[in-house]
Amino acid sequence: MCGIIGVTGTGPVTPRLIDSLKRLEYRGYDSAGVAALVDGVTERRRAQGKIRNLETVLAETPLNATVGIGHTRWATHGAPTTENAHPHKAGRVTLVHNGIIENFAELKAELAAEGHVFESQTDTEVVAHLLDRELAKSNDAIAAFKRVLDRLTGAYALAVLIDGEDEQILGARRGSPLVVGWGEDEMYLGSDALAVGPFTQQISYLEEGDYVVLNRAGARFFDSTGSEVERAVVQVSASSAMVEKGAYRHFMEKEIHEQPDSVQHTLSAYLDLVSGTARSQPVDFSKLDRVQIVACGTAFFAGQIGRYAFERLAGLPCDVEIASEFRYREPAVSPSTLAVAVSQSGETADTLACLTWCKAHGLKTAAIVNVHTSSMAREADVLWPTHAGPEIGVASTKAFTAQVAALLALAVAAGVARGRIDATREAELVKALFEAPRLISEALAMDADIRREVVELAKADDVLFLGRGAMYPLAMEGALKLKEISYIHAEGYAAGELKHGPIALIDEFTPTVALAPLDDVFEKTASNLQEVAARGGPVIMIAPAEAEAPHGASIRRIDAPDCHPLIAPLVYAVPMQLLAYYTAVQKGTDVDQPRNLAKSVTVE
Ligand code: M6R
Repeated sequence: MCGIIGVTGTGPVTPRLIDSLKRLEYRGYDSAGVAALVDGVTERRRAQGKIRNLETVLAETPLNATVGIGHTRWATHGAPTTENAHPHKAGRVTLVHNGIIENFAELKAELAAEGHVFESQTDTEVVAHLLDRELAKSNDAIAAFKRVLDRLTGAYALAVLIDGEDEQILGARRGSPLVVGWGEDEMYLGSDALAVGPFTQQISYLEEGDYVVLNRAGARFFDSTGSEVERAVVQVSASSAMVEKGAYRHFMEKEIHEQPDSVQHTLSAYLDLVSGTARSQPVDFSKLDRVQIVACGTAFFAGQIGRYAFERLAGLPCDVEIASEFRYREPAVSPSTLAVAVSQSGETADTLACLTWCKAHGLKTAAIVNVHTSSMAREADVLWPTHAGPEIGVASTKAFTAQVAALLALAVAAGVARGRIDATREAELVKALFEAPRLISEALAMDADIRREVVELAKADDVLFLGRGAMYPLAMEGALKLKEISYIHAEGYAAGELKHGPIALIDEFTPTVALAPLDDVFEKTASNLQEVAARGGPVIMIAPAEAEAPHGASIRRIDAPDCHPLIAPLVYAVPMQLLAYYTAVQKGTDVDQPRNLAKSVTVE
């Protein structure tokens, strides 16, 4: 999760860029850099490590300018070196980027064949070369920028300077957030409201696929079709921008939309797309004979999804247990078991007690936690962080997908360490995982279809969620989300278990939500849905458009993005969350602070 800032104004720009970058440190970084237009030509300063290293460089070689961009980098492509630090430059173009350009390897090969020479290992530099090439064809910067955006696959936010285009900054957003800040004779571009917080509280949020052109007098916004559009200006409190809802009605809605970014940030901690490899881990998976996951609530369902991946990819037996049960049942454990606590807060009393118990019984322990200073983070032998950022909504969303992302990535690492995954398969799986941020963005666009369905769903007293394989724990998570915030009774079942009892619940008033990605059990899930439809039960089937629909008048379809089966739990989590969210909004419940619940459960 990189941080972006851009400033175009009349005062000295570098102190402003540095001020903003310091506020973006919370996003995590390994290097930082700035670029500014000096007499119409861009100059860069970059440094590895902390922002103060960049300040030292700037003190030695100052940049005197009024227009500039800055970046804190969290390495995804290439090592955290000065060469790989942003901004990247090619010819007249200098830019910074947050996100992943998935098709960078193809684009790089195309450009290299034309003689372009690359300085870094990053995916970002490819975008600079592409834009420079387009500018050479015609000097219309906005049109050239649009042509480049049309070539990119992935999730990204960009801020761009062009030599000779004084005062101007270009920006674009797809998947990763980007905001415009409005000042007095000065304009700003930032990766979030916090980035521009030191300068203004007047913010416009770019919508998915938007691009923007700034100069100190204002901003022109364009949508993904290239049409010029208006974007509203909203007031955001600078001091608390990090925990502000921004343009969203609820924190939960905001956090759902942050998932392309939070999943990417988390994956990047465990995987390297350039080399197509999983990063080495402080656990020797080849020496383990079992993984024991302990967790509560949503984190428990994430653990269950992790189990499918550990067993399928790494042949590593994996048990997952609710912490409050594990803790008191005197479990039999073998010394070559790795105990893994999964928790957003890192403070959940039952999960923490299990971690302590496992440690006391001589097991090596690890904690997958989102709060990196929490008790579990400190107690465990190994800290496996998730990078979801602060989660305010009581109903967990982005912390859940970050937990799933970490578990899937670790399962790949385990498979490699245990000789179950060769280099070709490792590269294929790493590539598939890095497609998740883009496909999560696409899943967010299911919004309108889901709103249409909740009108009926909100009237139900009971709802069933069905899935097979890793979609089974996701079905349980979908049911939990709906229960928590809409107060509608819901249960998640393995689709194959339906006819062993729960099918007795089916009638015309009991909707069934089915998660049916096109995987090796799709046909089986589809026939279970026909069993529901045959009994007059309304079905909402979430499946790719390509999937052949089972027949039945009561089956309604919501089209989901087609995806690699490994990342289906990440992509299909989004419609589950949106379904719960909009149902709760329809019912008028307190979405962010549902009754009887607390964000962190530190009692038994
Ligand atoms: O902080 P933790 O992840 O350990 O919390 C565990 C559960 O309390 C939590 O996931 C809870 O189920 C959420 N309200 C789910 O939305």
